[in-house]
Amino acid sequence: MTAVEISGLRAHVGETVTVRGWVVTTRSSGKVAFVVVRDGSGTVQGVLSRKEVPAPIWAAFESLTQETSVGITGTVREEPRSPGGYELGLQDIEVLGASPEYPITPKEHGTTFLFEHRHLWLRSRRQAAVARVRHEVVQAIRDFFYQRDFILVDTPILTGAIGEEAGNLFATEYFDLGNAYLAQTGQLYVEAAAAAHGKVYCFGPTFRAEKSKTRRHLTEFWMVEPEVAFSDSDANMRLQQEFVTYIVGRALDRRQEELKELERDTTSLQRVQAPFPRISYSDAVSRLSVLGSDITWGKDLGGDDETLLAKEFDRPVLVYNYPRQVKAFYMKENPDDPRTVLNNDCLAPEGYGEIIGGSQREDSYDKLLARIEEQGLDPEIYRWYLDLRRYGTFVHSGFGLGVERTIAWICGIPHIREAIAFPRQIHRLYP
Ligand code: 4AD
Ligand code: MG
Repeated sequence: MTAVEISGLRAHVGETVTVRGWVVTTRSSGKVAFVVVRDGSGTVQGVLSRKEVPAPIWAAFESLTQETSVGITGTVREEPRSPGGYELGLQDIEVLGASPEYPITPKEHGTTFLFEHRHLWLRSRRQAAVARVRHEVVQAIRDFFYQRDFILVDTPILTGAIGEEAGNLFATEYFDLGNAYLAQTGQLYVEAAAAAHGKVYCFGPTFRAEKSKTRRHLTEFWMVEPEVAFSDSDANMRLQQEFVTYIVGRALDRRQEELKELERDTTSLQRVQAPFPRISYSDAVSRLSVLGSDITWGKDLGGDDETLLAKEFDRPVLVYNYPRQVKAFYMKENPDDPRTVLNNDCLAPEGYGEIIGGSQREDSYDKLLARIEEQGLDPEIYRWYLDLRRYGTFVHSGFGLGVERTIAWICGIPHIREAIAFPRQIHRLYP
């Protein structure tokens, strides 16, 4: 018998085929029975009549429980009322793997329970929809850079240099060389590669021992980081708005069905069009004070500040030139106001907050060395990074987009832990 995927049934109307998958639901009147099966490509309903099938096949039907794996064989019919538009008139049911007492039932379960069963929960419709939006976003990211001639450079996960801040490093013993750290960013390495190729990006998992249990933080998350030679902070922000617009557009274009499954109201996503509004950090602080925040100049924006500020705009907003004291050592000092740096964050609307952090990089050897020393970092470890300023230094900029935060926003899900198949958080290493 030909085994076919459910998504391909339309090409087999009138033929007898076998579909293999997992049982979603069953129901029976005692005379006529229905089984809904999904195989990853789609969902189909099989129908069988007690008097038309041999007794063992009816018995096989009666043994089916949620998530039993089966091969069902029958004739393909068009049936507009059936999910997917086709139906199988069943002649055979083969039980491949029983599924007694599947833990996730159609009733409501608490989040803790669901995350304990994440390996099974992935099969549910909503979770599958999120996974497919993620798949689209990741492909869109790769296509965006490929189409614009950026070169992909894979950066190391085991690193000797702290990329962002000392406070949230995962360290592991590395032979005779002391500690290695799991990369918080690939940025320092793509800066080196930008001098080889001009336009580059890295895309991989990054690690931060975040002690906070917020809905925006994972300890392992995916980040895409482009880096562009001879690009300043202004060009960097233009690239960000083009990039975010492209990703959201791709999800809207190709993942309507999934967004519908997630009950995502897409009107705010449709407004994601360049140009994005821009506001300086200093103006943002004034605006926030009026809106009731207790922020003062010099402090980083908190999650609540980001939400409050983003509410003022109808699309993502670019906040630029933060105080240097709250930002990383590699950001270029703002020549017009040395208290600040030439950086920006991109804040997503609807309470999602920062999805991008980016900056023009410090290209002066002396200033960079001073910053490294000021932050108590060991210049010897950054010798190679400083070399980039000794041998043909160049204006360059880049940014990092957090993939899970972007997906959570596009999907409209409240917590980023659902935006990755197996989230890693401070209290979660299982499954
Ligand atoms: O702002 P961040 O720390 O910037 C960097 O790492 C730079 N090296 C990027 C660059 O310029 N190449 O992180 C960038 C983005 C954040 O805007 C956020 O979306 C995401 O990474 N992010 C996290 N996502 C999930 N969990 C966490 N703990 C995250 N920390 C940052
Ligand atoms: Mg940041």
